Amino acid sequence: PAQQIPVICIDGPSGSGKGTVAAQVAERLGYRLLDSGALYRITGLVATRAGMALEATNAERIAALIAAQQLEFTSDQRVLVNGEDVSLAIRTEEAGMNASKVSAFPAVRSALVGVQHAFRALPGLVADGRDMGTVIFPHAPLKVYLTASVQCRAERRYKQLISKGLPANMQALFADLEARDARDMHRAAAPLKPAEDALQLDNSTGTAEEAVQQVMDWWAARQPFAPA
Ligand code: DC
Repeated sequence: PAQQIPVICIDGPSGSGKGTVAAQVAERLGYRLLDSGALYRITGLVATRAGMALEATNAERIAALIAAQQLEFTSDQRVLVNGEDVSLAIRTEEAGMNASKVSAFPAVRSALVGVQHAFRALPGLVADGRDMGTVIFPHAPLKVYLTASVQCRAERRYKQLISKGLPANMQALFADLEARDARDMHRAAAPLKPAEDALQLDNSTGTAEEAVQQVMDWWAARQPFAPA
């Protein structure tokens, strides 16, 4: 049964390096990867394109809209919505902020639960998000809460955007991160917080490689799930 398929949850705030760490852990273990933030980013994108204001009064309509889309995740981490590759369109700062807005609506979160559970497959799953350990996979044998200072996350995001040839401004990034942290942590539905049994990992100073190694070590200690 699905409950026996191992899941490693990696939750944390925007820009903490979750994406990189989760992808590398998944690759090393040969596990599938769930980038749950992409689902909220896609929701924000399709709702905006449909001309819907991202407000609570539209929550049910936005939830129905995302439920009606055909989503496809390729093995090389591209995302298709009804056949259209939106991988780049969902990576802008605006898309991140819109994702944060729609993610506060309980109807939207409910509409995305099934898609997330469907990622669970053998030999295992690495799930990256805000509520992987608290809500989506509460029985996961390893939950990691990855943090980093706002300054450090803003710098990381800045470098990421620049390297992708996207526009970036340090001050705006800093302000956006603080606004997103506040919204993601203080919403009523599945707020960002460490699960009670999460192991905390501070990613402010070390390299991604060190964080990956820490997660691998924790996983190795989690018998019988992890390979010896
Ligand atoms: O990880 P990310 O930056 O791609 O996520 C974008 C937004 O989506 C984030 O600000 C909050 C929301 N989100 C969420 O509410 N729950 C998740 N599991 C993942 C993301």
